[in-house]
Amino acid sequence: MIIEPGHPLEQPFQGIHHVYGNEKAIQGLVSGNYSDGSVLVFDLLNYAKKDNTIQEGERKLVGVMHKDVNRYPKTGGWGFEGFAANSKTTRLTKDGGTSCFGCHLPEKNSGYVFSRLRD
Ligand code: HEC
Repeated sequence: MIIEPGHPLEQPFQGIHHVYGNEKAIQGLVSGNYSDGSVLVFDLLNYAKKDNTIQEGERKLVGVMHKDVNRYPKTGGWGFEGFAANSKTTRLTKDGGTSCFGCHLPEKNSGYVFSRLRD
């Protein structure tokens, strides 16, 4: 997905979205049940329109969901964390993932995950 200006989630999610999952997360996308150890990564990139194309730009942030039911009981069994741009250490979440989880809550019936596996 690409979020453009004018979308309600423009701040901070304007950009190209790539979503990646490890093997357990892919199994979860198929079955609807995510086992501990599932990891989903949301990779948000800037973009530029050039010569009638849309080109990837710098990374804006990386969002991570890590399933561990015992460790994250308050946020649906998922640990939520954001990392600034290309940083592996600068974390963006200040509230233990509560606000991330709040927006993912409507997806309860699919394990709090928005994405669907493409056929
Ligand atoms: C305002 C709503 C909102 C907030 C806040 C939010 N997300 Fe999401 N998130 C979404 C939507 C909508 C998607 C669907 C996929 C996309 O945007 O490409 C998504 C997708 C994801 C995905 C890919 C798996 C999936 O559910 O599709 C991860 C990982 C993720 N978000 C992590 C986070 C983290 C970490 C935070 C907090 C730092 C966060 N999100 C905050 C709305 C939100």
